[in-house]
Amino acid sequence: MRKNVFIFFLMLLCFSAFSQKNNVAELLVPAPVSVTSGTGEFMINAKTSIYISSSNVDVKRVGESLSKKLSFVTGHAVSFSENKSAAGNRIRLSIIKDASIGDEGYKLNVSQQEISIAANKPAGLFYGMQTLFQLMPKEVEEKQFTKNVKWKVPACSITDYPRFAWRGLMFDVSRHFFTKDDVKEFIDQMVKYKYNLMHWHLTDDEGWRIEIKGLPKLTEVGAWNVKKVGYFGTFSPPTPDEPRNYGGFYTQDDIREIVKYAQDRFVNILPEIDVPGHSLAAVASYHELSCTPGADKYHVRSGEEIMDWSQGQPPIAMLDNTLCPANEKVYEFLDKVMTQVAQLFPFEYIHVGGDECPKNFWEKSDAIKALMKKEGLKDMDEVQSYFEKRLEKIVESKGKKFMGWDEILQGGLAPNAAVMSWRGIEGGIAAAKMKHNVVMSPTTFAYLDYMQGDAVIEPHVYETLLLHKAYDFEPVPEGVDPKYILGGQANLWTEQVYNMRHLGYMVWPRAMAIAEAVWTPKDKRNRWNDFASRVENQFPRFNEAQVKYAPSMYDPIFAVSKIDSNKIKIELSTQIEGLDIYYSFDNSFPDNFYPKYTSALTPPEDAVMLKVITYRGNKPIGRMISMPIEELKKRADKKE
Ligand code: ACM
Repeated sequence: MRKNVFIFFLMLLCFSAFSQKNNVAELLVPAPVSVTSGTGEFMINAKTSIYISSSNVDVKRVGESLSKKLSFVTGHAVSFSENKSAAGNRIRLSIIKDASIGDEGYKLNVSQQEISIAANKPAGLFYGMQTLFQLMPKEVEEKQFTKNVKWKVPACSITDYPRFAWRGLMFDVSRHFFTKDDVKEFIDQMVKYKYNLMHWHLTDDEGWRIEIKGLPKLTEVGAWNVKKVGYFGTFSPPTPDEPRNYGGFYTQDDIREIVKYAQDRFVNILPEIDVPGHSLAAVASYHELSCTPGADKYHVRSGEEIMDWSQGQPPIAMLDNTLCPANEKVYEFLDKVMTQVAQLFPFEYIHVGGDECPKNFWEKSDAIKALMKKEGLKDMDEVQSYFEKRLEKIVESKGKKFMGWDEILQGGLAPNAAVMSWRGIEGGIAAAKMKHNVVMSPTTFAYLDYMQGDAVIEPHVYETLLLHKAYDFEPVPEGVDPKYILGGQANLWTEQVYNMRHLGYMVWPRAMAIAEAVWTPKDKRNRWNDFASRVENQFPRFNEAQVKYAPSMYDPIFAVSKIDSNKIKIELSTQIEGLDIYYSFDNSFPDNFYPKYTSALTPPEDAVMLKVITYRGNKPIGRMISMPIEELKKRADKKE
């Protein structure tokens, strides 16, 4: 009898284990098109092998990388072969024909017997593999082999494909140079969330990063400045004797290596040569490219102030950082540069910048005045448009398509130009209405250099973009024909980013929000709480991968208004649900034994500091924030 009872309970236990439904959807970012959870799981073990039903080299590469990764993390030799007899505990990669999933889509089925990833193209298998990794235990991201992990993959059935073909992340390597290995690491990070394009900002006032044969000074002079720290834009100007030894550049071999590395991971690289503004590194190398040449006038910028932004856009330059549209040497220079850029980068587009070009030196230039007369140009926007149209011809003569920031609309858009809309979405709307291709990357949703929370705790930048707001990014504005919207992109400018640790902090988790905006179908968006919880599920994976991310989504948001000349009202809220905020006005560190925030606060008469921290249940989750009352009063005054 006792034996029967034991067997009964054992059966009950087995039954409940097997009948427990997985919830696979909560593991995945970006959210797939469709996902059905199954019961039970596939176990990766010593018997697991990978079978690929194709001899295509790209398929083989995906199979090989899956084999390498699984062997490393599980400690079992997970081999791959084209041999069908490798049956049993099997992961199968196959090429199929299924018009419904397109070139990058995939079908992933996990049963207790087999994992199958099927796609039309190798890229689809690659994205299916990324999804598979997210289904596996977090140790799949580990840098070192960990024993005693159960390599379970929950049973499920997923059909998935991207909403947009252009899923970009921009990496500015001009403001700070990042090594070849850093760039590869960036690519490794982005593909986990199914980005397929790295926009590589290679030139700017602070550095020219690409070797151009026949123009050696671009990298001998243009790639180097003086390292400064503090608030970018306010650094003290370097003295003539300070060594210019901070920076670096990529040789053409380096570029080829990175392009190949990206291609192997189904990532296109969009090179950007930012002209005619943002060109101080080029002008410091070849001063004759400026309308105001002078051998010793120009140095690569080290973050000192060179622009006056008080009048808005375009800025007023204190030092001429522009190429001269009235100078034929400029077009010869650009022809040389674009010839080599076109040869190095297989991607169909070259980005030519065009943003934030000051015109005050052009206005005073006799050469520009003569050009305007000769060409019938009535203002400075038309001068820039003349430059862009000539540059478009150069780019097209190299077999490439021309793309620029939305300023290239001003003064008349070049005939075939594609526009990257950054100053909001308006430029993108205007260009799409003129039947030009558009990539949306507005500051309002997609600028990863902006602060992710309150300025009292975040590293200082002039603007803020909360994760919550980034999640609301919608690349296709109302009334615009979607066929002109190639997709969307998040941009990481690096004025304040000196290393990969801080890069991770700035990029993640916001780049997950943008990844979801460009991958996930529109009807599966608008689910902030669900997204926030999936983002949280990713954080342990970042820890395993030793990639930094910002915990800012856990910090409270401060809103302040004036009650009277001396009194303010402070309202606190959180981006994510279910957090409690505890506070103090007495300078001590609050915890969950302190007053809990329930309604607007007014500081006691002599209080100097409001300290706050968020908790989830009885666990601190946000950071301890010390907000000076003076700062809040200033903010309230500003709002008046
Ligand atoms: C830009 O952010 N200046 C394109």
